[in-house]
Amino acid sequence: MKRNILFVDDEPNILQGLRRLLRPMRDKWDMHFVGSGQEALELMSRVSMDAVVSDMRMPGMDGPTLLLRIMHEHPDVVRFALSGYSDQEMIGRSIAPTHQYLTKPCDEEKLIQALEEAMNARAFISNKAVLDKIARIEHLPVLPRAYVRITDELSKGDPSPKLVGEIVAEDIGLTANILKLVNSSYFGLSRPVTMPQQAVIVLGVNVIRSVILSLHVFKSFETTEERSFSLSKLWAHCQRTASIARVIAQAEGLGKDKADNAYIAALLHDLGKLLLDAHCATECQMIYQEVRENNRLVAEVESEVLGLTHAQVGAYLLGLWGLPPEVVQAVARHHAQDPEPEGLNAASVTYFANLLDHDIFIFNEHYARPQASPERLAALGGPDTFARWREAAVALGISEEGT
Ligand SMILES: [Fe+2]
Ligand SMILES: [Fe+2]
Repeated sequence: MKRNILFVDDEPNILQGLRRLLRPMRDKWDMHFVGSGQEALELMSRVSMDAVVSDMRMPGMDGPTLLLRIMHEHPDVVRFALSGYSDQEMIGRSIAPTHQYLTKPCDEEKLIQALEEAMNARAFISNKAVLDKIARIEHLPVLPRAYVRITDELSKGDPSPKLVGEIVAEDIGLTANILKLVNSSYFGLSRPVTMPQQAVIVLGVNVIRSVILSLHVFKSFETTEERSFSLSKLWAHCQRTASIARVIAQAEGLGKDKADNAYIAALLHDLGKLLLDAHCATECQMIYQEVRENNRLVAEVESEVLGLTHAQVGAYLLGLWGLPPEVVQAVARHHAQDPEPEGLNAASVTYFANLLDHDIFIFNEHYARPQASPERLAALGGPDTFARWREAAVALGISEEGT
């Protein structure tokens, strides 16, 4: 089935340009072009859209207002902002309802890829009622400003560590947390890192960006009262899992991009737990009670109660936010039993890093300890490989408490 995509811009020549550039997509997409927010809403009341790409600065209803209305009225529609200005005020106002920002002039290949990947992310959530609930981003963490700015710099080319360090340094809390993470035993540095720029050099821009994202997501859930589980324990688990993923990637000589994606996926793998707990608090209380009382696996009970798992929910959000597909897949598959067709990749590393953390660091008599799937294990060399990785993870010498 063709996808419906709506483009909103008050400048006719921009719409003309998009129409021309995107012509090759006309077999896959039904494209609609309108010149104002009012027209967009009117059309959306008649045609159900899969995605909207809106200009920011428009007379009458501006982009942030339009995207906010769409978020309320059509929560499951993918929402992109196309901005010709690096207008901080506009970006500030549109952060909540916007899944991704693209800068004008936009490379059509990037636009097509970003839209396709974000629309594909919706397929992770097959239950429409749950999708609608989760898609209302007012309850979701919004993208942190530093993340948006670094993404913007990345879209222009390879930003210097100095520039990225400066963006990080503007936020004192963020700087402190990043330095704490880099200097923790996880990284085994011989000399302490004291400047954000150095942290960027040590971790790389992509990893720094995902660290910012995960710190922010965990922080945005801190204020909400009752939790079905301990936030600090989950955060420590995610950090340890990321470190173990790094160790596995090193041991196997994985290339830099794959190793980075494995680290990022491992750090973000349980994000869905936070989202589910914020949206489906009553169900989550039931889920965790069942897990504790009967020694069950969280993902298994989630499937029974909600018809989906935190792995799917996390993948959905990360896909909308435009994380690399390899990361999104790894998060989606971190409890899957079948092996990766391509062997060792971000997904298999994340899967085993999570298992190893449970095996080495999580001693909770009330939780079932997940066991490695024999198929996934066999695909990567069997129990010997697992034992080797376990040894390397133990050698990290990290504490159960995290940083
Ligand atoms: Fe998980
Ligand atoms: Fe986990």
